[in-house]
Amino acid sequence: MSRKIRKAVIPAAGWGTRFLPATKAVPKELLPLYDKPIIQHTVEEAIASGIEEIIIITSPGKSSLEDHFAPHRKLESALKKKGDTELLEKVQRTSRLADIRFVPQNNPRGLGHAVLMAAKEVGDEPFAVFLPDDLFGADPTVIKQMSKVYKKYGGSVLALLKVAPEDISRYGIVKPEEVAKRTYRILDTVEKPETEKAPSRLAIMGRYILTPEIFDALRATKPGKGGEIQLTDGLAILRKKQNLYGYEFEGTYYDAGKPMGLLKTSIAWGLKQPGIGLELREYLYKLLSG
Ligand code: G1P
Repeated sequence: MSRKIRKAVIPAAGWGTRFLPATKAVPKELLPLYDKPIIQHTVEEAIASGIEEIIIITSPGKSSLEDHFAPHRKLESALKKKGDTELLEKVQRTSRLADIRFVPQNNPRGLGHAVLMAAKEVGDEPFAVFLPDDLFGADPTVIKQMSKVYKKYGGSVLALLKVAPEDISRYGIVKPEEVAKRTYRILDTVEKPETEKAPSRLAIMGRYILTPEIFDALRATKPGKGGEIQLTDGLAILRKKQNLYGYEFEGTYYDAGKPMGLLKTSIAWGLKQPGIGLELREYLYKLLSG
């Protein structure tokens, strides 16, 4: 019987090299999308997905991530004194969003290794993984859509998106067997293959529902692409022992993991926001026609 997904792991331990020099002193996950850091959008998506407990994997030098979700008494009392209740509410909300725990990954040994760091906090229950580089405009959330597949079939479930041939080598790619509309049994997973060698165009996006058996699979995973312990390689081991499914979610994918991606995300996401979309549209229109 499938169990409720209560816990989420958010890996946030990387160097953020694609964003250097912006990320020399500021963690990539704290770069803003409009008025909130990227990782806060991810945390809010996790909450909207029914998650009750969040485990963020960090690395040394990234304590500002913890600061962001902790209360800031001095700032709060300054805002209170000024009578700025709107900002006060925004600041207080960030520290009351969810039960968030931080687990360090002292050596950056890859995404699979980062997820393995959460083994103790996750324990013996299924959980979700949210990669903060990937943002989605989806209602219900991508994890909620995947939960339906998980409830029906059990096993682990990956979020899938058909990508253009030239983008294949940027993602984990699956070998799929269609079992229902948008739903696939996964026969293999390959991390960032060359386009010609890829088993399909279905790429793994940064949302996963995983059973705790993934931890043993990750312990057995040898360094792969880039000399790192890859989550995709752990999944290839897992699917030999247990069913692995993929779901082509409905919604928009935003790539916030590189400078041009974040710039495009800011525009595309911004255009869809009720409070700011119209002003942004008018500005872009003027810019392009002038
Ligand atoms: C990671 C995973 C990859 C996945 C991608 C989704 O790659 O290793 O399998 O497809 O996230 O964004 P990264 O973006 O960290 O290079």
